[in-house]
Amino acid sequence: MSEMKVTVTADSIAKVNPDALLTGVFEEDVSSKETIGKYEKLFGTEILRAVEGGDFQGKLFQFLLVYPTKKPYKRLLLMGLGAKNKFNAEVFRRACGASAREIKKAKAKSVGLDLSFLPSEHLSDMTRAGVEGFLMGGYRFIAYKSQPDDNGVEKLFVFLPRPQELKVAKAQAERGKTIAECVNFARDLANTPGNELPPLALAQAAKSQSKKLGFSCKVLGVNELKKLNMNAILAVGGGSSRPPCLVVLEHDGARGRKSAPIVLVGKGITFDSGGISLKPPADMERMKDDMSGAAAVLSAISAIAKLKLKKRVIGLMACAENLPGSKAYRPGDVIKTASGTTVEIISTDAEGRMVLADALHYAGRFKPAVIVDVATLTGACVIALGAEACGLMSNNEPLAEALLKAGESSGERCWQLPLWDEYDELIKSDVADIKNVGGRAAGTITGGMFLKRFVNSVPWAHLDIAGTAWSDKDWAYKVKGSTGAGVRLLVEFLMSR
Ligand code: BES
Ligand code: ZN
Ligand code: ZN
Repeated sequence: MSEMKVTVTADSIAKVNPDALLTGVFEEDVSSKETIGKYEKLFGTEILRAVEGGDFQGKLFQFLLVYPTKKPYKRLLLMGLGAKNKFNAEVFRRACGASAREIKKAKAKSVGLDLSFLPSEHLSDMTRAGVEGFLMGGYRFIAYKSQPDDNGVEKLFVFLPRPQELKVAKAQAERGKTIAECVNFARDLANTPGNELPPLALAQAAKSQSKKLGFSCKVLGVNELKKLNMNAILAVGGGSSRPPCLVVLEHDGARGRKSAPIVLVGKGITFDSGGISLKPPADMERMKDDMSGAAAVLSAISAIAKLKLKKRVIGLMACAENLPGSKAYRPGDVIKTASGTTVEIISTDAEGRMVLADALHYAGRFKPAVIVDVATLTGACVIALGAEACGLMSNNEPLAEALLKAGESSGERCWQLPLWDEYDELIKSDVADIKNVGGRAAGTITGGMFLKRFVNSVPWAHLDIAGTAWSDKDWAYKVKGSTGAGVRLLVEFLMSR
């Protein structure tokens, strides 16, 4: 994706004169002749007739493109924002996301986002949300199109009504841009097909990102994994000719000060066929996104490196391809994980918790303050929560609260599920310490119970993003395909701690 230039300005719209001006209208204001009259007077365009004809009511995701007669304005896109009492940063992020695709119907290279209609108290939050939404909503995955069509908007101007807010708004716009670009980077990785992104290519992507942004990146290959007894990652990767690896990222923003780091751990299955416990063919192509957790970890660390967060954060990406080759692990196998805990394999399709088991154990060596893992772990989570929230499980209430809060403010909501001791019953094995599948009941929770075994007493949270990582349709700032789930949530969480 080519970068979009974002400029916050208190200059007049006429002076900058973008190809299209995007301005929000609340439902209540559409019926107010006064508000509409203001626009008509300013731009010399007929909006009232469209409103009276019922073409535009200011509902959320409703747009009206008009062509001003007054010079120098070129295009005006009215963006419905819904009712005032339901309005917040997430609503604005959603509207701006949808507007990025709407604007592509017009040939506009530069777009102005007019914030003068917004209530003034939250202007800096809205600047960030607007930029985030617009950049995420305009995303497209074109890497494999021989002839990508016109790639649209190149410049975004944010018009502020009052110059005294410029400084804060600029910082917020920068933050929004960085976060959205990192979300889009995660989307690029997850949309990349399995043939093009084996584990070592994902590691390579991490390497080049680390060089670009100045954090450290170390790749542990098969020999190192063997030395570390990471038999779970090795078992999952065994069925593919393309070897597994563990990528270790580190952003040391707390330089000099000794501090317990935050460790993020991501599931990086570059393609999940299910292995010997082969998945049914329907929708299997989506399983190229089974490394979304690892992509979120890499992207979140990229974002905080760019934003120069003064904290020490480690990222672990547990990468493998789950295929049924002749060296594949099989149901019935017992695998001794790096921590020494033995696991009976019931299904080779429950591979995510296997690679995470070794990675979570490895996380312990950093003496972390907290561990957060992110994974497209269970189909059961898709059934339970759909695309509206990611599943949150934790051994530590304050940590869970912090993530729930970060979810609310970032627009990536979480919903907590319990990890009561009683559920341990479901993963008891006859032959090993535990088994990797607990049956159909409480499928998301048994995934969490399994992972909990590998973190000891460190405050830890598990985010199941199976339902949120992929979108079946264009909606608001989501675009059909990978959503970049987890990035905004993790960045918000890290910034708020
Ligand atoms: N990658 C899948 C989970 C998944 C399913 C993500 C659908 C997104 C959409 C995971 O590796 C898996 O196959 N999980 C199994 C676990 C089961 C065997 C306990 C599942 O959910 O069926
Ligand atoms: Zn699987
Ligand atoms: Zn999987």
